[in-house]
Amino acid sequence: MLDLLITNATLPDGRRHISVAVQDGRIAEVTEGLRAPAHETVDAGGLLLSPPFVDAHFHLDSALTYGQPRVNASGTLLEGIALWGELKPTLTHEAIVERALAYCDWAVARGLLAIRSHVDTSDPRLLPVHALLDVKQRVAPYLDLQLVAFPQDGLLRRPGALENLQRALALGVDVVGGIPHFERTYAEGSESVRILCALAAEQGKRVDLHCDESDDPQSRHVETLACETQRLGLHGRVTGSHLTSMHSMDNDYASKLMALMAEAQLGVVANPLINVTLQGRHDTYPRRRGMTRVPELLAAGLTVAFGHDCVLDPWYAGGSADMLEAAHMGLHLAQMTSAQAMRQCFEAVTTHPAALLGLQGYGLAPGCHADFVLLHARDPAEAIRLRATRLGVWRRGRRVASSPAPVAQLALPGRPGQVSLLAPPRPPE
Ligand code: FE2
Repeated sequence: MLDLLITNATLPDGRRHISVAVQDGRIAEVTEGLRAPAHETVDAGGLLLSPPFVDAHFHLDSALTYGQPRVNASGTLLEGIALWGELKPTLTHEAIVERALAYCDWAVARGLLAIRSHVDTSDPRLLPVHALLDVKQRVAPYLDLQLVAFPQDGLLRRPGALENLQRALALGVDVVGGIPHFERTYAEGSESVRILCALAAEQGKRVDLHCDESDDPQSRHVETLACETQRLGLHGRVTGSHLTSMHSMDNDYASKLMALMAEAQLGVVANPLINVTLQGRHDTYPRRRGMTRVPELLAAGLTVAFGHDCVLDPWYAGGSADMLEAAHMGLHLAQMTSAQAMRQCFEAVTTHPAALLGLQGYGLAPGCHADFVLLHARDPAEAIRLRATRLGVWRRGRRVASSPAPVAQLALPGRPGQVSLLAPPRPPE
């Protein structure tokens, strides 16, 4: 007797009428049309069953603080950092934990079951680090939380920052972070990249740097990141987050740079909601979109994810833990409108970030963890179009969230009474 059987599902790769059999928290079988006795059987009705959403870039220590102590008036990254600096002395362990747990509830409701969160290590008390390590342990049964030691105020700009970061790693923070474009000089930014990559190599850690988050086409720290990754043999373990300066770079230089990035097997995280909000603030018109070159990086063979980055904090006044919202914005900003490109946008919030985080047992294949989401959509493009309702969310074969199908009752003369926004089946490509 199976623990759970999902029948008549459509998978993100287009396979239809698929049954997914679950035993002991793992996927036992993925086969067309399988019927077998199970404790629970769910008819997916031809809708999309996906592996869970993954957010490769988030800040759980600042999430849900919007308006404390005031709102970001200029809307810039730098005012956001200053505002966070004003807020930090007032933080308490309990308040960070409470907000982070509330956000993780939102995440589960949205089928977002793995988050890589940067945690600010600038404060010598490491208050956010202790709080998020506590949260990591508490949410572990239902959400994978990976933490990045993030020297928000700069590694070389702030005395003691390297020691604080090392202490955070010793306490159990998983990944080495940094912010080279915020160091005092370009040279110090490059030096910070070298120090952080060497530290990661020494400790066998992954690296994920906030990198070149500006509209300055001369901000080229990702070049140093690729070079150090290559030199230290960190291939596949290093991610460059944001890389917004690439939007404004000269095409000739960008073509050389992308080859170097591919050689180093860098991961890339674009944060479309935040990039389009924070970048271009010094432009008049035309105003740049500020997101890195997603389609070109994918074409060069790089693994590119879309992150959410912020929700209701000093940098962003929106968000609700919905990775389909990030994918929707990314699709528009990068003009990824072909059928293949829309699928890639879906991969950028599922399989790609899972690869960047190094998640084990992720996916819809026999042997993987029985973690998945049933969406009120027929395919990945429709899921993005509708920011589809998560009808059911399962973790290790156990249902952890449900939402009713969004069906409106119309009261129109001569028209049927119920309407859903599902589209007619797509024509073959
Ligand atoms: Fe960030």
